[in-house]
Amino acid sequence: MTVATPSVELAIETRGLTKRFGHQTAVDGIDLSVPRGAVFGFLGPNGSGKTTSIRMLLGLATASSGDIAVLGQEMPGRLRDVLPRVGALVEGPAFYPFLSGAANLRRLDTADPGASSATRSARVHLALERVGLTHAAGKKVRAYSLGMKQRLGIANALLVPRELLVLDEPTNGLDPQGTREVRSLVRSLAAEGTTVFVSSHLLAEVEQMCTHAAVMSAGSLVAQGTLDELRRVGEAHVRVRTPDGADARRVLAGLGIVAGDPVTDELLSAPLPEGAAAPETIVAALVAAGVRVRGFAVVGASLEERFVALTGEGFDVVQ
Ligand SMILES: Nc1ncnc2c1ncn2[C@@H]1O[C@H](COP(=O)(O)OP(=O)(O)OP(=O)(O)O)[C@@H](O)[C@H]1O
Ligand SMILES: [Mg+2]
Repeated sequence: MTVATPSVELAIETRGLTKRFGHQTAVDGIDLSVPRGAVFGFLGPNGSGKTTSIRMLLGLATASSGDIAVLGQEMPGRLRDVLPRVGALVEGPAFYPFLSGAANLRRLDTADPGASSATRSARVHLALERVGLTHAAGKKVRAYSLGMKQRLGIANALLVPRELLVLDEPTNGLDPQGTREVRSLVRSLAAEGTTVFVSSHLLAEVEQMCTHAAVMSAGSLVAQGTLDELRRVGEAHVRVRTPDGADARRVLAGLGIVAGDPVTDELLSAPLPEGAAAPETIVAALVAAGVRVRGFAVVGASLEERFVALTGEGFDVVQ
């Protein structure tokens, strides 16, 4: 199957995208839909296939099977048309350690056939300013910290205006201040209309920066959507096991909690609205009304719990 009519609304679209390394399937038939204008978080633990997917999106690696459209064009077939419209940071470009940051950017800019030489210095200056490296523009890259190199890589992706930015773990190796700067940079680029596809293994980071997310686990895409949609799936539910379903339903309704159809004869489940009564208050109200509570639980209380359930492992929630 091909992405027969690539959607103009989608910046990135994949169908059944797969990458095998020998017997290992690193990326297993993923269907990504990245809307234009989104800040799209590509979230997953180490080794879940993020970088491998990104390399295929950019034509840096060949897919074993499946189809890709980037900015409405088939990849890698239309690579030459697509790549000038895409800025990318994947495992950092190779910088010359004996050149300054500014000189490295000028060199990389020269290699871009679409970049005008007349405005080169101004663009290099602006890109360095946007990533907070103005003070280190003349310093040799040999003397850059990992975080500074990471920022220089982002500056490189920003040399000319892009419709799509693909950033593979852009906050890796950054200190907390640098991390905040990169996050706010991503948000401001998005505000200017650039679609940003950014990978991360940090749930909190994706929550702060992104409008949409996809969750990878062991090569598979296990969830995708807007953050609100993903949160809703993970919304806290209260579960009550009781033979007195009708009474329980009435007591819950009195607390603003509306139960759906019984899950089984004895089991009621209801989403907990924001600001709902505390679990102990709910149980007390049920018992006071004579409901025989045989079981009670609050489940799926946070996006984090949801993602842990999806991926089978914890995320680093703070950096
Ligand atoms: N060139 C390669 N040859 C063989 N196996 C590879 C190659 N590149 C990646 N892999 C394997 O594919 C799997 C996915 O790796 P990938 O780098 O895409 O994960 P990731 O999600 O980017 O992880 P991280 O968070 O550590 O960057 C891993 O098991 C990795 O060992
Ligand atoms: Mg990676």
